[in-house]
Amino acid sequence: MTPQEYMQDFDSRYPATADLRQRAYKRMPKFAFEYLDGGCNEDVNRDKNMADIQQVELEPRYLTPPPAYDITTTLFGEQYDAPFGVAPVGLQGLMWPNSPVILARAARRHNIPFILSTVTTASIETIARETDGKAWFQLYYPAEQEILFDIMDRTKANGYKVFVALADVPTFGYRPRDIRNGLAMPPKMTAANILQMFMNPQWAFKSLIHGKPNFESLVKYMGGKMNLRQLGKFMDQTFNGRLDLEKLKILRDRWDGKLVVKGIVNEADCEEVIQLGIDGIIVSNHGGRQLDAGQSTIVPLANLAAKYKDKLTIMMDSGIRSGPDIARTLASGADFTFMGRPFMYSVGALGKRGGNHAMAMMKRQLQQVLEQLGCPNVEQLPEYLIQDND
Ligand SMILES: Cc1cc2nc3c(=O)[nH]c(=O)nc-3n(C[C@H](O)[C@H](O)[C@H](O)COP(=O)(O)O)c2cc1C
Repeated sequence: MTPQEYMQDFDSRYPATADLRQRAYKRMPKFAFEYLDGGCNEDVNRDKNMADIQQVELEPRYLTPPPAYDITTTLFGEQYDAPFGVAPVGLQGLMWPNSPVILARAARRHNIPFILSTVTTASIETIARETDGKAWFQLYYPAEQEILFDIMDRTKANGYKVFVALADVPTFGYRPRDIRNGLAMPPKMTAANILQMFMNPQWAFKSLIHGKPNFESLVKYMGGKMNLRQLGKFMDQTFNGRLDLEKLKILRDRWDGKLVVKGIVNEADCEEVIQLGIDGIIVSNHGGRQLDAGQSTIVPLANLAAKYKDKLTIMMDSGIRSGPDIARTLASGADFTFMGRPFMYSVGALGKRGGNHAMAMMKRQLQQVLEQLGCPNVEQLPEYLIQDND
């Protein structure tokens, strides 16, 4: 897609993630917006992610400009139109009806990766169709091996090439808003939540069209219809264990495509995954939704990239909100970036145009940064990083 083509998706009324967030806030039911927007505990880690990325500085060179600027990149042998993708997000259809399909379609159109979460509201099969088999799959490791193997067989049969094992949810995050709103496991449909749905007519209308959201990839393991309480119990029983080396080894032995671990933030874990022959990591703290006392992701990213970049592919998410942030992250050593909330804000703000708009916006912003720096391509961004000389 050329810049002229992708800019057709751009809506000039919402040129920044902050605009999209504000409009999403107005259009989504309160419990859904708070589930999306919130961090854990006091939101320290969520906010630090954004603030620390913004500290990274780049230095422009004006007088020897390259002939052209190119934001495309290659990752795991696949050519993408931009160095960012859609991070896996659970329960998407609850936040905005049909949102996983909206985002998967947009990712296909903009030729960037979309990662499907195990616990979102579209199935492995649907998303494979929407993306021509180009999506990645993120696994919450199930307690039963039969379910694990079936999920792996389905992802393989449907052409998924990259399998992502999630490491950073050994326990449910402590999220005060969700607890207040009854979104803990098992979920409760409180009178307040039902009222909020009806106060957001667009959301309620689209929900009527698309039906009640469900964990579509998991329906076949549920054994019939479940009420909310039963569903909570099923989810609790099925996804109760932490990822460990033994489980990762099972995945490595069985998955012959690219295998990525998401949530790695320290050297010891990174060395373990290298030993196991893992192809890449996503340095992530789940968008600050798990450990409020943790570091922002840009800090371990720089360290891990400096040490291990020649051993495996290093990607990052958590706190990226703009083209300059993508450039800052790549300049700090990442091979690729992902975003969670920005794309969902955009769907909350603009409905089915939301995915396309956010992707066009990020591409435009990143292109501007390269042009301003005089940097010909995203691989050369580290040359423009201002090193901290302390
Ligand atoms: C509402 C919400 C749900 C999420 N659900 C999942 C999930 O099911 N699986 C997963 O691996 N990560 C999940 N994440 C984490 C994202 O993949 C990603 O790491 C995070 O959103 C990045 O931070 P950002 O939102 O600041 O971009 C979720 C994040 C949010 C905001």
